[in-house]
Amino acid sequence: MSKGRILTGDRPTGALHLGNYVGTLANRVKLQDEYEVFLLVADYHALTRHAEKDHVIATRAFTRDLVMDYLAVGIDPNKVTIYRQSDVPSVCELHLLFSMLATVPRLERVPTLKEVMDAEHIEQPSYGLLGYPVLQAADILHVRANLVPVGKDQASHLELTREIARRFNFLYGDVFPEPDTLIGQVPTLVGTDGQGKMSKSLGNAIMLSDDSATVKHKVRDMYTDPKRVRADIPGTVEGNPVFDYHDAFNPNRVEVEELKTRYRAGKVGDVEVKNKLTAALENFLAPIRERRARYTANPKIVDEILAAGAAKVRPISEETVRMARDAMGLK
Ligand code: TRP
Repeated sequence: MSKGRILTGDRPTGALHLGNYVGTLANRVKLQDEYEVFLLVADYHALTRHAEKDHVIATRAFTRDLVMDYLAVGIDPNKVTIYRQSDVPSVCELHLLFSMLATVPRLERVPTLKEVMDAEHIEQPSYGLLGYPVLQAADILHVRANLVPVGKDQASHLELTREIARRFNFLYGDVFPEPDTLIGQVPTLVGTDGQGKMSKSLGNAIMLSDDSATVKHKVRDMYTDPKRVRADIPGTVEGNPVFDYHDAFNPNRVEVEELKTRYRAGKVGDVEVKNKLTAALENFLAPIRERRARYTANPKIVDEILAAGAAKVRPISEETVRMARDAMGLK
């Protein structure tokens, strides 16, 4: 029995990493048996920062990488509807209707706007960038989803989604659910440099598609307790990324607790702690690599999945738009 509908997704900006996994992908994999799940490749959203032709073309390639990552982590395309935003244009009509329901100052206060403008050196936001979370609300509500598993950074967008649903329902009658946000078990995984959250653009990420040698190198070079210049100096476990990763990815709790005790007492070298982390990550990544290899052997599969996904979502989306228009009296 389905508990309801999930809609979630990502901008196609390239491969996903361990932080994405614990932040939201794990939830998506887990919930695919309990909910009717829609997984969106937000290619229009990807153009809100850079709309140049090169970028449009790059987005196509990144779409494949993203879908491959979904399949590799265990999203089952027979259960989950994976589709590309631009293949379902009725979402744009809902976006337009919703754009009357959010004021400009409200959108200017969405914290991700300033973050993106700072990070990308954007002086003035385009109308599209300002409206980014309005389009996201349309994504979620055009399938009338009631649960949205996302990373922590998306919480403010979900807040706006609920406001828009509430405002619409208040003005025109009950059409939309107010969806809940679901954030993963490790909302913010630190990067390998220990400096901030894991992010591909900061170069401190372990990708789900990294091979064994790359993972080994990245773990060997990971930041640990800098005060610990020798193995017999007591070390700090809290805030140490090597232990954060052990907590997130090493299912052998006894081993992890024992390593922590010895680390605090100055009775274990960083090399041993890191080697055990590499082994745990290899165990975690092995089935992901296996599935990826199986799917890449059949490269047409991504196109087939996206075509089937769009065909499934279109009628649902069109029905929602019809309901919205009817409620508004736009018959
Ligand atoms: N903004 C999301 C991100 O950057 C991507 C996204 C677009 C999304 N539409 C969505 C996520 C709808 C959840 C639901 O990660």
